Amino acid sequence: MKKSKEDKKKIDKKKIDNDNNDNNDIKMKSKLEFKIINGKKSIIFESNIKRLGLYMNKFSQNEIKNEVMFYRSSYSFVKKNCGPIMKDFLSKVPKKFLKNCLIDSRSHMLMEGFWPCIPGWHHDDVPRTLPSGQPNYRHVANKARFITALVNSSICPTEFLVGKMILPDIKTKIYNKWDPIINKQIKNKTVESVKSTSDELIYFDNNTMHQCTRATSFGWRWFVRLTINSTLKPENEMRPQVQIYLNDYTIGW
Ligand SMILES: [Fe+2]
Repeated sequence: MKKSKEDKKKIDKKKIDNDNNDNNDIKMKSKLEFKIINGKKSIIFESNIKRLGLYMNKFSQNEIKNEVMFYRSSYSFVKKNCGPIMKDFLSKVPKKFLKNCLIDSRSHMLMEGFWPCIPGWHHDDVPRTLPSGQPNYRHVANKARFITALVNSSICPTEFLVGKMILPDIKTKIYNKWDPIINKQIKNKTVESVKSTSDELIYFDNNTMHQCTRATSFGWRWFVRLTINSTLKPENEMRPQVQIYLNDYTIGW
């Protein structure tokens, strides 16, 4: 029997919901949906995080300073070359997530007002396959999951959004145009902003809107993100440098 347009829509929607539970046992309310709302093409996200209740050990500022950093690295490469902080993190990650994952880590020296990454609301690892080079939310392989942790998070936590948000379905400068709309939705309390705390392992996915915050005081901070279901290939780089971002070049003086 030929499927009606409506039936097909239902099947497509179910597929997107189900995809969010592929290859993981961590249940989390998460959704990505395309709809016409008030005549405008829109994307609806159910953004969420799961606090795993797993915590890393405590590390000193000196230990964070001396920790080797990794860029897009496989588990086996990291395990072979890592320092004590990463070793502790890997020992806390549920084993099933260590297969075919990619690992990124950073040790940042931050001062008040510094950003440790490009600021602004975004999703991680959405394949950038639109002709404009922008994230393609319709890409079938858009189903990455992540486990992240921060050591000394209190000076500069990651901020995540929890709740439903409706955003315009656009093809260019996506995050640039979404950012003020999202901030308005937070102000209107239609979506809630929550922050990471030190040493805790947090699970999130391709629908979790998040951003880095500005450091509120001086200190060393260690960041890790383990990615599952990435479309990217391991590059196995140990990086000796890391960058910070400023909107006022005199801020450190
Ligand atoms: Fe991110």
